[in-house]
Amino acid sequence: MTKDPVVFDNPRAMRAHAADLRRQGLRIGFVPTMGALHQGHLSLLDYTREHCDHLVVSIFVNPLQFDREDDLSGYPRTWEADLAACAGHGAETIYAPTPAVMYPEGYQTKVSVTELTRGLCGAGRPGHFDGVATVVLKLFNTVSPHLAVFGRKDYQQLRMIQRMVIDLDLPVEVKGRPIVREPDGLAMSSRNTHLSPQEREQALCLYRALTRAESLVRQGRRDVAALKQAAQDEVAAVAPARLEYLEVVDQHSLEPLAVLHRPAVMALAVWLGQTRLIDNMELNP
Ligand code: PAF
Repeated sequence: MTKDPVVFDNPRAMRAHAADLRRQGLRIGFVPTMGALHQGHLSLLDYTREHCDHLVVSIFVNPLQFDREDDLSGYPRTWEADLAACAGHGAETIYAPTPAVMYPEGYQTKVSVTELTRGLCGAGRPGHFDGVATVVLKLFNTVSPHLAVFGRKDYQQLRMIQRMVIDLDLPVEVKGRPIVREPDGLAMSSRNTHLSPQEREQALCLYRALTRAESLVRQGRRDVAALKQAAQDEVAAVAPARLEYLEVVDQHSLEPLAVLHRPAVMALAVWLGQTRLIDNMELNP
């Protein structure tokens, strides 16, 4: 028997609830989401539930982090299914504020993590990471979690949030969890629902690019230009796929590497029609 989670839609009520949980000595685990929950999110809920006493999930499609109006308006919204999924995976509390509550008239503050957000997705999506950092800080302030868990599919986002937590002395432990993939390798994403059957097939080029590079690393290749070329060839083999970027960067600083002499990550963004997909794989020489 699953119990329905309690839902809060404004920061005051959510903060009072969190304070109450803390008074009871409960360890609060938190998974921030924009809804449209899939197996990737659910794996975060399961992990967090195991490592805390009380699981809070936020569901908020954050307008501040969208750089295209059509992306924001077309973002999948599946409230009923999300609630059921949260209940089924042990969430006791849902925090679902509205944009008007999060950003009322007169709102003007933004958080910016400057260096980590310059390259990769940051280069092509101006303002996106400021929007993410801002909302995550607001959510942390309201939910006051002991532990917050994010997926590694948004690798740059995870590193940025870890940096923000250090820089702003936030009393929260941030954990990144592995990418969850479909059986054929496609990384789970709310945006996969936008793909036509043909694009869904073509989207496998991201995973093929990453696994090609990874197998070369296992064979001993350390020359990043060669790894990138091999991966780019996999994307180029799918004519409609448009590569936005493909980089090999340090796992922590996210600075581009020329030689794979320390733990790295290959990350890429590819467009299929109107849908932008990202994926990454850690390369450990
Ligand atoms: O990864 C996401 O779904 C969002 O960027 C997040 C962290 C919930 C902030 O809106």
